[in-house]
Amino acid sequence: MTVDRRDRAVRAAVEQGLLTEDQPVTALIDVAGIRSSVAALRAAFAAVTDAPVLHAFAVKAAPLVPVLALLHAEGMGAEVASPGELALARAAGLPAGSIVLDSPAKTVAELREALGLGIAVNADNWQELARIDELVAAGPTASPVGLRVNAQVGGGTIGALSTATPTSKFGVTLRDEGARERVVRACLERPWLTRLHTHSGSQGMALTRMTEGVLAVYELAEEINAAAGRRQIDTIDVGGGLPVNFASEEHTPAFADYTALLRERVPGLLDGRYGLVTEFGRSLLAKHGTVLARVEYAKSAGSRPIAVTHAGVQVATRTVYDPLSWPLRIAAYDAEGLPKAGPGVEQDIAGPACFAGDLLAEKRALPLLESGDVIAALDTGAYYFSSHYGYNSLPRTAVHGFSTGADGEVRFATVRTAQTVESIVAEAGGAERDALLGR
Ligand SMILES: Cc1ncc(COP(=O)(O)O)c(C=O)c1O
Repeated sequence: MTVDRRDRAVRAAVEQGLLTEDQPVTALIDVAGIRSSVAALRAAFAAVTDAPVLHAFAVKAAPLVPVLALLHAEGMGAEVASPGELALARAAGLPAGSIVLDSPAKTVAELREALGLGIAVNADNWQELARIDELVAAGPTASPVGLRVNAQVGGGTIGALSTATPTSKFGVTLRDEGARERVVRACLERPWLTRLHTHSGSQGMALTRMTEGVLAVYELAEEINAAAGRRQIDTIDVGGGLPVNFASEEHTPAFADYTALLRERVPGLLDGRYGLVTEFGRSLLAKHGTVLARVEYAKSAGSRPIAVTHAGVQVATRTVYDPLSWPLRIAAYDAEGLPKAGPGVEQDIAGPACFAGDLLAEKRALPLLESGDVIAALDTGAYYFSSHYGYNSLPRTAVHGFSTGADGEVRFATVRTAQTVESIVAEAGGAERDALLGR
């Protein structure tokens, strides 16, 4: 989102009453921005390969039905990792052939449903593969079936998101003693196992390391196909994980940087012999979302100014619990939604939750915020407001998509309404009030 587009959207959101006494925090997503990121992704791959590529959006990054429908209209599929995510993708109208099911803990019922629908399934481990063996033996499936491989190429700067460490919980390992031989054998024994999948990590992974993971899986596919004497592995799912720059407006690295590296280091992957699947999430959406919140109070403690806002752990969970790994930029606006001017004053931007660590930013130099001002937490379009955290029974915020008409006016469409207090009570067992009495 450019600064100008964001400024206009914030002003319009305030003018059009999206921030109110009842809803003092809300979220915006930039429809044109999302479209341009999808176009950049598609163009980056089209520039390096003629092979068919399914770009499956990682639903966990923005589990919102209208967003999935928009991405599908732009030519994308969906990567899902739970029954809920699968239901969202289906509710968005995605056909089975554009959905890929990953997840480390699929039940037999989930596997049966996916194989029945013809959704691509990536087996995570040997026990899961044995379950799939039984299901495939019981009846044919239209689902492409793959095996998730942990190439064990190492982690990135954020341990919690590094999935290719030697001991990661994901996939079957490749470099442990005897592991490679076991993978090759398993594929040769199962002619229907036609895909390999790898996802080396998300934010914090260097492109070179992601590429090493893809190279390892490509070489494995070549070995399996040579041993099979045919092109058994016909598709390689390279996962997602392109990191996002949270420090400025720049979209770096670009999808084209990644595909250029793939072309340099893994040219055989792109020569048309393999279909491709990608599973990007954060890099498609992060830059296109903004959380807006009213400053309820401006106070000071130990000479530190503190702006107490309505945006905290419920919309920015990772940042609040792990601020060093997930710093967010904050922009300051006045009560009219105009950019706030003034000298930078170090202050804390606090959230509404009842623990001291509920801070979006600490000692951040911004124009001194006052009660009634508005703050914007930038680059929050993926894994932030879309993945609500219910601490303190704070409601899920509304989400509004915006676009600019030919007249330059910003128009909003409701993507998700805010959670009501009544629904919080209902979800907290409101209908079971007496369930524990008299026991
Ligand atoms: C298997 C898989 N694919 C894709 C993704 C999306 O990663 P990102 O949002 O970093 O692109 C994830 C993220 O956890 C994942 O686990």
